[in-house]
Amino acid sequence: MTTPKKLFIKTYGCQMNVYDSERMSEALGEQGYVATDTPDDADMILLNTCHIRERAAEKVYSELGRYRGLKEAKPDLKIGVAGCVAQAEGAEIMRRQPLVDLVVGPQSYHRLPQMEAQVRTGVRALDTDFPEEDKFEALKARPKARRAPAAFLTVQEGCDKFCAFCVVPYTRGAEVSRPVDRILTEARDLVDRGVRELTLLGQNVNAYHGAGPDGDWTLAKLIWALNDVDGLERIRFTTSHPNDMTDELIEAHASCPKLMPYLHLPVQSGSDRILKRMNRSHTAESYLRLIERLRAARPDILMSGDFIVGFPEETEEDFQATLNLIEAVGYGYAYTFKYSTRPGTPAAERAQVPEDVKDERLKRIQALITQQQQDLQQSMVGRELTVLFEKPGRFEGQMGGKSEYLHAVHVMAPDAKPGDMARVRITESVRNSLKGVLI
Ligand code: SAH
Ligand code: SF4
Ligand code: F3S
Repeated sequence: MTTPKKLFIKTYGCQMNVYDSERMSEALGEQGYVATDTPDDADMILLNTCHIRERAAEKVYSELGRYRGLKEAKPDLKIGVAGCVAQAEGAEIMRRQPLVDLVVGPQSYHRLPQMEAQVRTGVRALDTDFPEEDKFEALKARPKARRAPAAFLTVQEGCDKFCAFCVVPYTRGAEVSRPVDRILTEARDLVDRGVRELTLLGQNVNAYHGAGPDGDWTLAKLIWALNDVDGLERIRFTTSHPNDMTDELIEAHASCPKLMPYLHLPVQSGSDRILKRMNRSHTAESYLRLIERLRAARPDILMSGDFIVGFPEETEEDFQATLNLIEAVGYGYAYTFKYSTRPGTPAAERAQVPEDVKDERLKRIQALITQQQQDLQQSMVGRELTVLFEKPGRFEGQMGGKSEYLHAVHVMAPDAKPGDMARVRITESVRNSLKGVLI
C-alpha cells in the first residue's frame, strides 16, 4: 500500500470558502491525499484565499513567503493558491512567487485532480476560467465520513449587483443557482452523516432561482422543501441582499418551523447619499421598513449586518446617519469594516477618506455595536432556549453548542453528545458566549 500524501489547506474569507475547502479536500482525497492540520508535514499546501479587502490579499503573499524553508527542505512539496485572490491575480501570483505550483479559481476547482497530476510532473498549472460545465456536477460524490452537526451547503454563487466597493462579482462571477434536486440530495446525504443544522450559502442567497421539477424555485420554496427532510432540525441562510427579501421569504420566517430566527442582512451604510454612491439600490428607510416587516412576522428575529465606514466621500453627517440606523435596528451581531480600496472597482477612483478619519469612525461604530451585542446577549439571561450541541467544552462534562439565535452556549451535560439538542435555561452572559443549565 502506498502511504497517503498529506494535504494542508488554510482557509481565509467567507463561509463559502469554508465549504469550498471541504470540497477541494474531498476532490484531492481521490488523488490519495489525507488532511493534515499543519503545513510542516504536508505534501501539498493549498491557500484558499479572500480578496475582499487589501489586507486579506497581502496576507496571502506573506504566508507564501513563510513556506520557502519548507519547500527547500522538501522539494516535492507542492504549493497552490485557490479562491478569490487566485481568481483576481492568478497570473501575477505565478510571476511574483515562484514557490507557487498551482493557481485555481473558485469556479474551476473541480479540475484540481488533473492539475495536481500535472504539477507532479513538474509543470506549473493555472486555471482561472469560468467554465461552462457545472463544477458541482463535475466533482465526485462526497465521501460518507461522519460530519459535525452544523454544516454549510452552497446553493447559489456569484453576484450581479456590482456594489461600487466590491470585488465579488469579478472573483466569483455571475449569479448561478444550483438545481433543487442536487441540493436536496446533498442535504439528505449530510443529514445521514450526522448533520442537524444546515446553513445555505450564497453571495446573494435570497436571489436563489434554481431549477426545480416545475420551473425555477425561490429560496423560500427550497427552505420549505428542506423543512420536510427528516433528521434535519435547523435551517439558516446567508448572505441576503435587502432587495431580494421577498414576502414569501419573510412569511417563511413566520411559519417555517425549522427556519431559525436569525438573519444576516447587510445594509453597509445608513446614509442615502452614500448608499446611492455605493450602488446599493435601496435606502435606509426601505431597509428599516423591511426590518419592521420581518419583526412583524417573527418578533424575536435576531438581526445581523455588515457596515463599511469611510467609504469615499463619506462625511461626518453620513456616518452619523449610519449610527442612527444602527440605533434604530438594534443588532445582535454586526461586522464593521474600514473601506478598503479595491483596484478595478468604481469607488477606487473617488476621493478617499483619510485613514485617521476611518480609524476614528471605526472605533465609534464598534463601540456602539459591541454595546448592542452585549445588551442583546444579556437579554437572553433567564430565557429558555434550545441548544444544538456541537462539541465538548473546556471542562469535564461540559458541552458547547449554539442557540436558535446563533449565540454560543456552554452547559454542563455529561450525558450529551454532539448532535443532541436540549432545552436550556440561560444563567449568565459572559464575554462572547452564554452559560446555561439543562431544564
Ligand atoms: N455578498 C455579501 C457579502 C459580501 S463581502 C453581501 O452582499 O453582503 C462581506 C462584506 O465585506 C460586505 O458586506 C461589506 O460590508 C464588506 N466589504 C466588501 N467590500 C469591501 C471593501 N472594499 N472595503 C471594506 N469592506 C468591504
Ligand atoms: Fe459584493 Fe454587493 Fe454583491 Fe454583496 S451584493 S457580493 S457587497 S457586489
Ligand atoms: Fe472573500 Fe471571495 Fe468570500 S473575496 S469574502 S472569499 S467571495
